[in-house]
Amino acid sequence: MAYYSKGGATEEYAKVITETLTTQGFSVEIHNLAHDIPDVTVFDTVIVGTGVRMFRVYRRWKKILKQKTLLNKRLFLFLSSGTAIEKPDEAVEKFLRPIVEKYHLKPELLISFPGKIPEKWAKLDGQKETMKPTLAAAWAQQIATMIQR
Ligand SMILES: Cc1cc2nc3c(=O)[nH]c(=O)nc-3n(C[C@H](O)[C@H](O)[C@H](O)COP(=O)(O)O)c2cc1C
Repeated sequence: MAYYSKGGATEEYAKVITETLTTQGFSVEIHNLAHDIPDVTVFDTVIVGTGVRMFRVYRRWKKILKQKTLLNKRLFLFLSSGTAIEKPDEAVEKFLRPIVEKYHLKPELLISFPGKIPEKWAKLDGQKETMKPTLAAAWAQQIATMIQR
């Protein structure tokens, strides 16, 4: 599991996914891409998550996607974004799909989770708690079923 998070949403989801898979008996390493970019060669399955700001996924997150050996891995991608609060499918198409195409990736699942609304904006539209950790746990469960086979 590798993630890049600026506001904390992606980090929170990455932890939920890691915990869920660990509970299922999988051995999972969690890497914050702000600190290290792991060599994916040794892993069978790679899960990577990012947030989005100003219509762009985080640049440093993309570094891990450039590793050629990633193409031989079981790959799962997730996104945390404001758009996903109301339109999760649109967030996937807008922000993740172009990256998948650019790097010729073959992810088995792509998903977007609702991100955090910065406090100053939250006050304006009255929306505060947008995070849905149960969605990430359910997604991790789905991954567990797929990689068990
Ligand atoms: C300055 C700023 C710009 C943002 N721009 C977008 C955007 O263009 N599209 C979007 O869907 N969400 C946008 N968001 C919402 C973020 O995607 C959301 O805060 C998410 O939690 C970011 O992931 P992170 O918390 O892991 O960094 C923006 C948030 C901030 C603070």
